[in-house]
Amino acid sequence: MNRREFMTWIGVGALATSLPVAIAACQSDTAEAPSTTPAEPAAARDDGFAAIGTVAELDQAGFLASSNFQGTQVIVARDPANADAVIAVDSLCTHQGCTVDWEGGAFACPCHGSSFNPDGTVAAGPASSPLPVYEAKIEDDQVLVKV
Ligand code: FES
Repeated sequence: MNRREFMTWIGVGALATSLPVAIAACQSDTAEAPSTTPAEPAAARDDGFAAIGTVAELDQAGFLASSNFQGTQVIVARDPANADAVIAVDSLCTHQGCTVDWEGGAFACPCHGSSFNPDGTVAAGPASSPLPVYEAKIEDDQVLVKV
């Protein structure tokens, strides 16, 4: 095999290797990530509670979250101390405003490692202030929060 034949085989090999990647990149992404935020925020009832999602959605995702729930940002999870109850807090970390996640029975901030207990109090800094807590409950198949 001379140099020209060798280079031709290298080119064919590179094309064959990259073709599936190029085809995949050109395909539209038909699978959408599940959303934990309702498309339209529910209006608050007379008692101030509004639905943030269903119990099925809560149990499937492990939490419910919205960046615009009644004009604020909320994350809801089942209370680790009482599986029939839910807890809701403002999801903006009190350190520098990143959005906290629900991980392993606590609210965790991905930015600098703060974590918050289910009642919103600080478990680990650098945050020093608790997360604001909202009233939350389950009625029928709905998870309701009052902000
Ligand atoms: S913004 Fe959450 S720990 Fe810094």
